[in-house]
Amino acid sequence: MRIDILTLFPEMFESVFSASILGRAQNSSILSIQTHDIRAYADNKHKKTDDYPFGGGAGLVMMAQPIFDCMAAVCGDETPHRILLTPRGKLLTSERAKQLAAHDRLVLLCGHYEGVDERVNTIIDEELSIGDYVLTGGELPAMVLVDCLSRFIPGVLGSDDSTAEESHTNGLLEYPQYTRPASFRGLDVPEILLNGHHANIKKWRERQAMEKTRKMRPCLLGTFGKNPEKPQK
Ligand code: ADE
Repeated sequence: MRIDILTLFPEMFESVFSASILGRAQNSSILSIQTHDIRAYADNKHKKTDDYPFGGGAGLVMMAQPIFDCMAAVCGDETPHRILLTPRGKLLTSERAKQLAAHDRLVLLCGHYEGVDERVNTIIDEELSIGDYVLTGGELPAMVLVDCLSRFIPGVLGSDDSTAEESHTNGLLEYPQYTRPASFRGLDVPEILLNGHHANIKKWRERQAMEKTRKMRPCLLGTFGKNPEKPQK
């Protein structure tokens, strides 16, 4: 997959994308991520990319021209799926990330300041938010989106890692995990995980996942048609 990111702050992405699993995915050519500096496309003398909002109000608005020209240069003759990261967007979910991972090409546009000139929406396919809070810009949300969807691209996770049993994959939060030692400073791993009885371990994990979800995020149980009052046995 190729992901192009249009941003005023390309330097923010360097260390995040070169490390760990995303770095490995790029080295093995499963993933190609390129950042593009929107400012380089500003056609005014001072390379200005923002201006005061028509009608008044606080803050600055990102201008349409540098974004339109940057988008045109990046897309060329192709029609990649184009996403604007904004707190006004639809909430990103694991399900949506999985769908996006099936695209060959994505273009992410990072908004900044008070927002983006509304006319930019004519060259955008989808607006996404990573949560009901406002960040200083779309750069961190773009990193979150890339990280989240990359895990669904075949080959990105090692064979030992899997998205099958983790939180949000089946509508439940994940069961508790433990590793060695079995006893640590008086804290013991639940006995059931130590005896190798796989059917019992599976049942225990299902019950734990249900309990954790009921306690932390009861609304998730409703969404997936599970009864929060009666954890499955
Ligand atoms: N830009 C600022 N806040 C954001 C959010 N919560 N999601 C996506 N983009 C944003």
